[in-house]
Amino acid sequence: MRRVIIAGNWKMNGTIVETENLIGALLAGESENDKATVVVCPPFVSLSRASELLNGTHIAWGGQDMSEHVKGAYTGEISAEMLLTVGATYVIVGHSERRQYHAETDDLVNAKAKYALASGLIPIICVGEMLEEREADRTEEVVGTQVMGTLSGFSAADLSKIVIAYEPVWAIGTGKTATPEMAEAVHSFIRKKAAAVDAAAAEEIPILYGGSVKPDNAERLLAQPNIDGALIGGASLKADDFIAIIRAV
Ligand code: PGA
Repeated sequence: MRRVIIAGNWKMNGTIVETENLIGALLAGESENDKATVVVCPPFVSLSRASELLNGTHIAWGGQDMSEHVKGAYTGEISAEMLLTVGATYVIVGHSERRQYHAETDDLVNAKAKYALASGLIPIICVGEMLEEREADRTEEVVGTQVMGTLSGFSAADLSKIVIAYEPVWAIGTGKTATPEMAEAVHSFIRKKAAAVDAAAAEEIPILYGGSVKPDNAERLLAQPNIDGALIGGASLKADDFIAIIRAV
C-alpha cells in the first residue's frame, strides 16, 4: 500500500502572521486524515514559526526549494541543514516555476534531490510538460527525460525515499486540470520509467498530481490507481479548500 500525501505549496504567499493564521485554521479544522500524510511548505521566512506551531501535530512541513551546496557564498540560497534545523522533513525540488524562472535543469534538480536524500530530507521531485509539448504529443518524451535525468545515479534505496510530483505546467495556477485519465496515464508512465531503476522500489513511490487541484476535482483525481496524493498551490492557501481536499482522500 503506497503512502498518500497531500502537500500544500504556499509559494511566495503570506507573511509570518498570515502563516500563523493559516496554520491555526488548518489545526482547528479537521485536517487530519488517517489515510494521508499532510505536508505544508510555507515560504522560508515563515518556516521557523511554522515549525513551532506544527511541532507535535499531524501536519509535517517542508521547504519549497534548497541549494545543492552544503554552505557558503550562495546569496539568497537555503541549505538542507537550515531546513533540518527548523524540523522540515520534506523539500520540493525542480518545481516548474524554478525550472522556468530560474533556469533549473534536470542535472541541477538531480543534484538537489541527491543532497536532500543524503541530508535526510524527503525530496518531492517535480516534473511536467508545457502546453506546446503536450500539443506536439511530446508529453512522454519530455516527462521521461525529466524523470530519468532527475533520478540519475539513484539506488533502489534512494527511490524508496522519494516522492515524485507530476505537474503539467499548463495546469498550474490556470484552473485547467488534467482529466483524471490524462493524469493517470502520465503517472503510470512515470512509474514505468522509475521501474527501470528498480521495479520493486518504483511500485512504492508516492506520485502526486499537481495543477489546479481543487475540492471539486480532488476526489476523481485521487481515485486513480497511480495518483497517490496531490501537490496543491492556490487551494492550499484556503484552509477550507485544503481540508476539503484532504477529506477527499
Ligand atoms: P496550483 O499549483 O494548485 O495553484 O495549480 C500547483 C503547484 O504549483 O504545485
